[in-house]
Amino acid sequence: MIRLNDLSFEESISANAITEAIEQVAAKINADYAGKTPVFVVVLNGAFRFASALISKFEGDCRVEFVKMSSYDGTESTGEVMTHIALDFDLEDQEIIFVEDIVDSGNTLEKLINMIAGGGIANYRVATLFFKPEAYTKEYKIHYPGLTIPNDFIVGYGLDYNGLGRNLNAIYKLKKTD
Ligand code: IMP
Ligand code: MG
Repeated sequence: MIRLNDLSFEESISANAITEAIEQVAAKINADYAGKTPVFVVVLNGAFRFASALISKFEGDCRVEFVKMSSYDGTESTGEVMTHIALDFDLEDQEIIFVEDIVDSGNTLEKLINMIAGGGIANYRVATLFFKPEAYTKEYKIHYPGLTIPNDFIVGYGLDYNGLGRNLNAIYKLKKTD
């Protein structure tokens, strides 16, 4: 068990399981993008660790760009997605791979997809380390989900609670108080 600020969390996904999930996603992306030069668009802050591990396993040429978005306050989505750092590269003819830590409601993903609309991209796909299908309210395809998880609030491996917990190497879920 660990404590961050006022809340307790218990380990739910081991560091090894995370590494294996990333290897599987990387293998699929390597197969799908062989001979291509994709642009990995990393969604800060949460995706920094997943992105680093995933991109280091990419075998071809690629570009890496960053956007910074936020929508969570504490353990809840505010429903409003803020853009702190916007996309600032030429999208024309690019093959984009969004790299997310977690897809929850899908509000952030929708905003990202709207951001690239009209930019003349060749295509896009979505890679996310975690996916919460029970919370997902959108219809956009998630091409590369690492691990599908229940609708729990989690921290670790880049994901935070009020800014804390990103350094943890396993995933911890919020302990329900009873
Ligand atoms: P969405 O827009 O609701 O899909 O949420 C996307 C963003 O909210 C993610 O990229 C995370 O940064 C954050 N988020 C969603 N679920 C969790 C969680 O369980 N723990 C920590 N952050 C989360
Ligand atoms: Mg995020």
